Amino acid sequence: MKTAVCPGSFDPVTLGHIDIIRRAAAIFDHVIVVVMNNTSKTAMFTQEERVDFLKRATAGMTNVEIDSYGGLLADYTQMKNASVIVKGLRALSDFEYEFQMALTNRKLNPQAETAFLTTSTDYMYLSSSLVKQVAMLGGDIRDFVPACIVDDILRKVRQINSNKI
Ligand code: PNS
Repeated sequence: MKTAVCPGSFDPVTLGHIDIIRRAAAIFDHVIVVVMNNTSKTAMFTQEERVDFLKRATAGMTNVEIDSYGGLLADYTQMKNASVIVKGLRALSDFEYEFQMALTNRKLNPQAETAFLTTSTDYMYLSSSLVKQVAMLGGDIRDFVPACIVDDILRKVRQINSNKI
């Protein structure tokens, strides 16, 4: 059985992520989407919230599992016996960072290959940071994230804004 790990901070999951997860699930027998920490970013949502969003957004995908892990991706892939790390590639601007991570992960765990799926053109511009920015400034995020998590994002934005007063 070919297991692929699809890592990310998913803060929050976007329709671009869902597109990559759906396409990975059509290629591999088992896809583990793992919520991880990106030390260069401060998360808006807790790890539990991000896992919950992903679970709800992928509810119909039978070979997709959602998990979280606080350590190294290389250790996680080894632990799960996964031979592939799947990442989405949006534009040339993603490449250098993703290339660096892929080489580091290969050095740390030579058993796992990183495979890149090119994003659908519909989602080329989309990122979690953009969603958070639009939501914080009162914009419409319904075209950017799964419908089942829109209210949760708006609730969090209200909570953050009320704490500022
Ligand atoms: O969605 P992101 O923020 O681009 O995902 C980056 C992520 C979380 C996959 C990356 O930061 C990561 O792998 N974090 C886990 C810790 C780790 O293994 N760091 C070394 C990566 S080379």
